Amino acid sequence: MGNIYEMGHPLIKHKISLMRNKNTGTNEFRALTEELAVMIGYEALSDLPLEDVKIETPLETCMSPMIAGKKLAIVPILRAGLGMVNGILTLVPSAKVGHIGLYRDHDTHEPQEYYCKLPNPISERTILVLDPMLATGGSAVAAIDFIKEHGGKYIKFLCLIAAPEGIKKLEKAHPDVDIYIGRTDRQLNKDAYICPGLGDAGDRIFGTK
Ligand code: PRP
Ligand code: URA
Repeated sequence: MGNIYEMGHPLIKHKISLMRNKNTGTNEFRALTEELAVMIGYEALSDLPLEDVKIETPLETCMSPMIAGKKLAIVPILRAGLGMVNGILTLVPSAKVGHIGLYRDHDTHEPQEYYCKLPNPISERTILVLDPMLATGGSAVAAIDFIKEHGGKYIKFLCLIAAPEGIKKLEKAHPDVDIYIGRTDRQLNKDAYICPGLGDAGDRIFGTK
């Protein structure tokens, strides 16, 4: 059974507040996205398996723990999830990176797929799915559906801001997936934007609109 983890660290709260501010520019917004990915990723990876490895220090030989098992896979949901990739790679530089391209239809708010490429094989890897925003949950559910169709089993979803509606939908569709959330906001508006939120994460990371 998956769990939901909401981050309580004051630095995470502070940085999310900076991101909400409409006067925060693209450079700063992008840097904050990456910094928050490091902090949330650190938490999400706290159960990585370890194995004792023989190491020769300058003084003697010892057994010391190192990360065990297959390399981690990270899968950003394009576009905005790309902003979190370097943050996770700071923690685990050897991670494999897949991509899932989805955009929300403006009228129906349903996710439309336009690109998917995953590390192969993926079945024995821990997989972190990255997207700053969990709004209706449609994109996260579709991305995880796709990953599972390709054999993914050990999946965690990381976001900066979530709406209660999206958490509920993701939990229901994928009860085995752990969800790591920077902050849960109040609700969606009629256009399925998170309120108070931070606006369109992809546009703010890439300076589009
Ligand atoms: C945003 C965001 C998520 C999705 C969340 O992407 O980055 O992927 O919306 O909404 P949902 O939970 O209701 O599916 P968007 O569709 O705006 O595409 P973009 O990242 O390319 O801007
Ligand atoms: N996607 C965003 O980028 N922002 C929202 O508030 C909802 C979906």
